[in-house]
Amino acid sequence: MADTTIIVALDFPSKTEAFAFLDKFQEPIYVKVGMELFYKEGPEIIKNIKERGHKIFLDLKLHDIPNTVKSAMRNLASLDVDMVNVHAAGGKKMMSAAIEGLEEGCKGKRPLCIAVTQLTSTSPEMLKEELLIETELAATAAHYAYMAKEAGLDGVVCSVHESKKIHEVCGEGFLTVTPGIRPAGTSKDDQVRIATPAYAKEQGSNFIVVGRPITQASDSVEAYKNIQAELK
Ligand code: C5P
Repeated sequence: MADTTIIVALDFPSKTEAFAFLDKFQEPIYVKVGMELFYKEGPEIIKNIKERGHKIFLDLKLHDIPNTVKSAMRNLASLDVDMVNVHAAGGKKMMSAAIEGLEEGCKGKRPLCIAVTQLTSTSPEMLKEELLIETELAATAAHYAYMAKEAGLDGVVCSVHESKKIHEVCGEGFLTVTPGIRPAGTSKDDQVRIATPAYAKEQGSNFIVVGRPITQASDSVEAYKNIQAELK
């Protein structure tokens, strides 16, 4: 079974809270910095987190014309992040342009580039009535994943429940990054289709994104270590 890496979602309003959280950890971890924190603190926060030795998934979900995405990715790669993402709905040309930009901007290893297929906030009704997409939601997501692979991307963000299917369609080497993780006995919060870390591993998730079960735990380090143990 492939290794499953924990990515901790740093969903904090500012660097004060984010660093208070990171201060609890003696060892480097893998974190996800999203729009909330990045738009508040700017690229400086990425530099500060890297200086502490952590790995970073910069979750900004780019979606624009290919040339703009390419230039933006060149800049993001220069921040030395480890993973970035785009919306597959931007199309193959845009996704290939993202890879070109990353290759041009990176100093060493190119950051992994992952596609968002369909947001989990998109319902089947919304797909049909607002986006005018007649194809069923799961089939749309699988098609977007395949398109991402063809464009040269490294993987997709998806639900644990889609991870196996995506590996079947796109190959074992195509990465699945799965949020919606809840260790047994913890609160679901606003997540709907949840899965335990062990189940995510069993389904072949390469990365699990875990936020509140770690960030809001009374002992965050212990919560993190328990999930690590569950994945072994
Ligand atoms: O706190 P929790 O574990 O629910 O955090 C999950 C993280 O993954 C959040 O940052 C959320 O925005 C992100 N995410 C998600 N579902 C998706 C895509 C991203 O929960 N489909």
